[in-house]
Amino acid sequence: MSATADSSAIESVLQEDRSFEPPAEFAAQARVQAQQFWDMTEAAKADPEQFWGELAERELHWFQPWEKVLDWNLPFAKWFVGGKLNLSYNCLDRHLDSPRRNKAALIWEGEPGDSRTLTYAQLHREVCQFANALKSLGVQKGDRVGIYLPMIPEAAIAMLACARIGAAHSVIFGGFSAEALRDRLNDAEAKAVITADGGFRKDKIVSLKPQVDLALADGKAPSVESVLVVRRTQQAIEMVQGRDHWWHELQPQMSADCPAEVMDSEDLLFILYTSGTTGTPKGVVHTTGGYNLYTHMTTQWVFDLKETDVYWCTADVGWITGHSYIVYGPLSNGATSVMFEGAPRPSKPGALWEVVEKYGVNIFYTAPTAIRTFIKAGEDIPKQYNLSSLRLLGTVGEPINPDVWMWYRRVIGGDRCPIVDTWWQTETGGIAITTLPGAAASKPGAAGFPLPGIQTDIVDRAGNSVPANRGGLLAIRAPWPGMLRNVYGDPERFRRTYFGTIEGVYFAGDGARKDEEGYHWIMGRVDDVINVSGHRLGTMEVESALVSHPAVAEAAVVGRPDDLKGEAIAAFVTLEGTQQGSNSLADELKQHVVKEIGAIARPSEIHFTEALPKTRSGKIMRRLLRNLAAGEAIAGDTSTLEDRSVLESLRLS
Ligand code: WT7
Repeated sequence: MSATADSSAIESVLQEDRSFEPPAEFAAQARVQAQQFWDMTEAAKADPEQFWGELAERELHWFQPWEKVLDWNLPFAKWFVGGKLNLSYNCLDRHLDSPRRNKAALIWEGEPGDSRTLTYAQLHREVCQFANALKSLGVQKGDRVGIYLPMIPEAAIAMLACARIGAAHSVIFGGFSAEALRDRLNDAEAKAVITADGGFRKDKIVSLKPQVDLALADGKAPSVESVLVVRRTQQAIEMVQGRDHWWHELQPQMSADCPAEVMDSEDLLFILYTSGTTGTPKGVVHTTGGYNLYTHMTTQWVFDLKETDVYWCTADVGWITGHSYIVYGPLSNGATSVMFEGAPRPSKPGALWEVVEKYGVNIFYTAPTAIRTFIKAGEDIPKQYNLSSLRLLGTVGEPINPDVWMWYRRVIGGDRCPIVDTWWQTETGGIAITTLPGAAASKPGAAGFPLPGIQTDIVDRAGNSVPANRGGLLAIRAPWPGMLRNVYGDPERFRRTYFGTIEGVYFAGDGARKDEEGYHWIMGRVDDVINVSGHRLGTMEVESALVSHPAVAEAAVVGRPDDLKGEAIAAFVTLEGTQQGSNSLADELKQHVVKEIGAIARPSEIHFTEALPKTRSGKIMRRLLRNLAAGEAIAGDTSTLEDRSVLESLRLS
């Protein structure tokens, strides 16, 4: 099954003419104003090396300057060649000799009713101690460390501690199963794992350390030598002698002196696994210098960061959004970043607005799927809170429906806050397309313009640009500092996946159109990746999980539109031998997927069928299944179908 990146199938049906200029007051004080934005865009196009070189010199601390800004050997980029720096130094140490020393770096609002604020000085101290604890467990520069934690300050501390000693982290979202965790630890050959006894999720406790135990059981993750455990939920867990260590027992013995390791600009910073069209999740590789600069600049530009702002991104640190826009981008800028462990739920529908009111949040960044649940809960809920501190809103993760955008603007933003709809990916490292809030009008449903230094193009499969307002593949034609450098351990997969669909041009799966003013309208994935509540899943992964159940012969998974989640997972399954489908088997299969991957991958529906629609060459025709799952008429050509009677039986099932 190969990518189905077929540009001819991309058609835009969205009609949207509304446009909102930045409020005059906002624009007047914005860090980037309209003229500056276009000047920067021009300058970056004319001489990218000079553009990024000047910023890197002005905005980051380097232990040693680079010799060359960019070495581009398609598809391999090196930024700031020979330059030496440390990301944890740029996020912490350099703020300590200024009044920022005692400014809140992290404001953590936890469950149930916990909270904690760490100033830059306090965060620095804890990161140094944590870094020394990792060293005491034998973790060294160049090693990989798995992080499997809930949304607690220790998640940011652990990431920064790894960066400090030059160990690459691989954060694994706490919702992933033991199996998914094991696969990632093995791929990264992690030497240590940082976890917690458990975490609070909505009104429940989820166990984490027991999942790590399962992942490591029977020598199935042989590279892992030690496990560092943060105490969070106090539930009873087993500690394996010699392997497992409590953070609260180690911390008092750890010195708060831990100089930041001198890292090469291209040294591995982290690996983050993400889903693609084929096979197992890919370890997206990000390195130190370019990623530091790109997240630093984009945080500053897009969120119009001011020294006194309280900034809040609601993502989980298990995803790239949390890496770039809770931890690294904000802290590199010396900002105050809010971290939230909770979530809105029936017992606490106003959970988020309570946090906005409590801390006077100024900048709020969330996902369309969250906004859709706010809408469903009703506008009476946010109205009970004082949201007047907000001055800028953002969204990320999936296309936002214009009506959802309008609701966000009116109810949460009080009709006064600009909205930045930010398009980017795990692979881009940071935001690539948006409207800078003080520089350009925003249009509901459009992400906007490429940021300075991002050379987007909308192309057909052959790589030719398509005219304005025509759908095509969203491509990026030149390297940028935050781009992924590789797929961990698999450079050929890296080349093929990202630079092989359109030869020599970066493409990671989205369709888009550009309007006559240059606004980019993202139309969603054109490959076999589905976006469930802003979480990216490969249909292949879910299919593999289903097929690993003994009752299942074959499985095909597609996304179907869902009002809340954006897309929901629909699975078509054929069974082994003479077995019959039933509700209880459907439940069992859903549970099996949860066990294999995690709750985010649970299919919403399972259709048992006698056969799957295939082409004569044996390819599953997902397009037909997508139509069926969405309750639509079968669209397009079905002449390549091997057995047309399959369609009839599917319709009846
Ligand atoms: C995919 C990347 C980037 C952080 C969160 C997701 C979709 C992302 C938008 C947006 C329309 C968007 C794309 C992209 N996406 N932002 N503003 N409008 N679609 O990161 O898990 O790597 O997923 O999310 O389809 O390819 P990710």
